[in-house]
Amino acid sequence: MEKAKLILSGKEYELPVIVGSENEVAIDITRLRNDSGAITMDSGYGNTGSCESAITFIDGEKGILRYRGYPIEELAKKSNFVEVSYLLVYGHLPSKKELAEFHYGLTHHSLIHEDMKKFFEGFPPSAHPMGILSSMVSSLSAFYPEEGFDVDVSINMIRLMAKLKTIAAFSYKKSIGQPYVYPRNDLSFSADMLHMMYAVPSEQYEVPEVLEDALDLLLILHADHEQNCSTSTVRMVGSSQANLFAAISAGICALWGPLHGGANQEVLNMLELIRNDGSNYKKYIEMAKDKNSNFKLMGFGHRVYKNFDPRAKILKAQADKVLKELGINDPLLDIAKNLEEVALKDEFFIERKLYPNVDFYSGIIYRAMGIPTNMFTVMFALGRLPGWIAHWKEMRETHGQRIYRPRQIYVGSKKHSYVPITKR
Ligand code: SDX
Repeated sequence: MEKAKLILSGKEYELPVIVGSENEVAIDITRLRNDSGAITMDSGYGNTGSCESAITFIDGEKGILRYRGYPIEELAKKSNFVEVSYLLVYGHLPSKKELAEFHYGLTHHSLIHEDMKKFFEGFPPSAHPMGILSSMVSSLSAFYPEEGFDVDVSINMIRLMAKLKTIAAFSYKKSIGQPYVYPRNDLSFSADMLHMMYAVPSEQYEVPEVLEDALDLLLILHADHEQNCSTSTVRMVGSSQANLFAAISAGICALWGPLHGGANQEVLNMLELIRNDGSNYKKYIEMAKDKNSNFKLMGFGHRVYKNFDPRAKILKAQADKVLKELGINDPLLDIAKNLEEVALKDEFFIERKLYPNVDFYSGIIYRAMGIPTNMFTVMFALGRLPGWIAHWKEMRETHGQRIYRPRQIYVGSKKHSYVPITKR
């Protein structure tokens, strides 16, 4: 393979080039500082690869997303979240036997230790479910400690994939003051999540198929997205050989941010704001273009997609389908569609290649399903969990994996002596 050449202070350095299976090209600077004394700078890591990975491929220019080589459009149409989770974590589609064993693990490890219920009691009703989720996941390490880096962690991965939905559902019940509903092994993953959220002890609750299918699709679409902020956080924490629960708890916190997974909640808040302002969506398009307004069109733009986010396309169609099947006419969906239509014709958005992302329509569907806005990012985390675990596992299995420790350029005070102003 050709080498890259760098000339610095009159000296020429040759740098190896790495080419991926989809012909992506990277200049390997692993030895750059040793050889030249210089480092690179890349604010926001927009041009920096942190690892080689075989899990997910994204082509932002062409709007391509594949999990282990399978196009997201095919998985969304024909697969289910449990099978996609297996594919991401173990690297291949499961056989019928493997899927049955995996499903058995996800059902028979879905209870949390009864002592953990006491932790919920300590949170005020107003606690954001993402804060509860992160705390609870971290506390799982107290019940399932990992002794050392080389232990077999496969059971803890299953435990976490089985228990996260229980913790999420319990945090929802806690926030509305209703009794917890325990997981049921006879329901699908998505039906069980909705049953734990919506069932009440006083009556029989049957999860409508339209809601079960909608949630399963949402979970598939959120399952992984290569080196996004929260997944890179999981890898960062995992690189210190901290345990799985600690790494995932950190990923949940990173996802919480409004620029990342918290955007789905902010999209709904934005649409409500526009509706309450006479649905004057053109005013907000202009605000998004005005640098002084600090207003962003939430659910728009992406670091990687400079074309349509394929997930947004699927979710836009799904939003129409779910609302129609539920007989809901949501004015917020009309506002979202108007925003999209106007923005995609506007030079500001075209020039910056800003398109709707996965968060733009997902909130409309969650809302139609009766999921409260503050649970939207929790649902994102539930979907992203297999992706986080897959990356954490891939990192652990990478021979010679080093701890993540970026460098910096210091721009602070030069050396000066300390002159005490008081006697010690
Ligand atoms: C997710 O990385 C992933 O893969 C994430 C994710 C996943 O599955 O894990 O896809 C999930 O997080 C989706 C993104 C959800 N966030 C939002 O919808 C929040 C709104 N979007 C923006 O904050 C922004 O687009 C980001 C955070 C998504 C991307 O930020 P970048 O890549 O740092 O881009 P930028 O802020 O440098 O923007 C480039 C230009 C700027 O204008 P100029 O300074 O060049 O004039 O585009 C403008 C920005 O001001 N811009 C926007 C905008 N997004 C970018 N202007 C108005 N509204 C927006 N939404």
